[in-house]
Amino acid sequence: MLIKILGSAAGGGFPQWNCNCRNCAAVRSGAPGFRARTQSSLAVSRDGVNWALLNASPDLRQQINATPQLHADAKVGLRHSPIMAAVLTNGDVDHIIGLINLREAQPFTIYATNRVLDVIRTNSVFQVLAEPLVPRVEMALGKPFDLQGAGVDLGLTIEAFAVPGKVALYLEDTSSGDFGTQEGDTIGLKITDPAEKKSFFYIPGCAAIDETLAARLQGASIVFFDGTLFTDDEMIEQGLLNKTGARMGHISMSGASGSIAAFSKLGVGRLIYVHINNSNPALDENSPARKAIDGAGWEVGYDGMEVRL
Ligand code: MLT
Ligand code: MN
Ligand code: ZN
Repeated sequence: MLIKILGSAAGGGFPQWNCNCRNCAAVRSGAPGFRARTQSSLAVSRDGVNWALLNASPDLRQQINATPQLHADAKVGLRHSPIMAAVLTNGDVDHIIGLINLREAQPFTIYATNRVLDVIRTNSVFQVLAEPLVPRVEMALGKPFDLQGAGVDLGLTIEAFAVPGKVALYLEDTSSGDFGTQEGDTIGLKITDPAEKKSFFYIPGCAAIDETLAARLQGASIVFFDGTLFTDDEMIEQGLLNKTGARMGHISMSGASGSIAAFSKLGVGRLIYVHINNSNPALDENSPARKAIDGAGWEVGYDGMEVRL
C-alpha cells in the first residue's frame, strides 16, 4: 500500500489567507524551520495506479498538480484520472469542498456516512457531480466494505467507525449542548490491504481518545491522527479566536488528556500528525513543542510525505 499526504494542514491551510500569527508570518517570510502546508487530505493506493482520496480539500487542484501519481495519464486516454473514489470523514469545509474540483464528467465514487451525504445532497452546488456518473455510497459504521470506483476494485477494504467529535461548524445548533452532533458526523477510517494483511488508521478529527477508540488502535501499524492544536487554549492565548480545541471538537497534542499521553500506552508502530492548525507551535521545527513531539516518537506529517506499508 502507498499512502501520500496531499495536505497536512487543518482548515485554512498554512499560512492562512487572513492570518498574521507568529507561524503564518514566519512561513510567509520564508523563515527557516517553517514549511507551507495545504489543507487536510491523504491519497491511498494498493497498486500505485488506482487511487482513493481520503477527504477532498479546497486545495485539491493544487495537490493533484503537485502529485504525479494523480495526473491524467495520456496512455489511458484523452480524459482520465487515477482518482477512483473519495472517502470523507466529516462534513468540514476543509474535507469536502475539493469534490467541486473533480467535476468535468469524470466517473468516481463518493463514500461518506449518511450525515455527511446529507450535506452533499442538500447543497445544490454538489449537483455538478451528478449521479449516476458520480455515485454516492453510504458508509455504515463498523461494516468493512470493498473500495471501488469508476468500475475498478481498488483491492482495499475500508471500515468507518465513530470517534468523539462535533458536527461541522456551519451546521452547529448553538441552542443544544452538543451543537446537534449526531452519530456519523465524525468518523475514523481503517484501511486494509487484505492480500498483504496490512492496515492503517486515518483519524484527522477527534475530540478525545476514549476506551473504545484506545482499544481499537492498540498495536496498530500506523495511525495518521488529529494534530490540530498543541494546547487546548492556544488560539485564545494567541488572540486568534475565542475558542478552545475542545470547543472545536479537537483533542490537543499536549496535556494529561492529550494525544501524546493517550497514545503512549497503545504500542502503535508509527504515529503521524495531520490536520495541523496554523496556530500550532509544533509547526516551527525548532520549537520546544516540536522537540516534545519528536521525543514522544511522533512524526509531523508534511505535504508530499509518502508512506509505504
Ligand atoms: C475543524 O476542523 O474544526 C474545521 O475544519 C473548522 C472549520 O470548518 O473551519
Ligand atoms: Mn478541519
Ligand atoms: Zn496563523
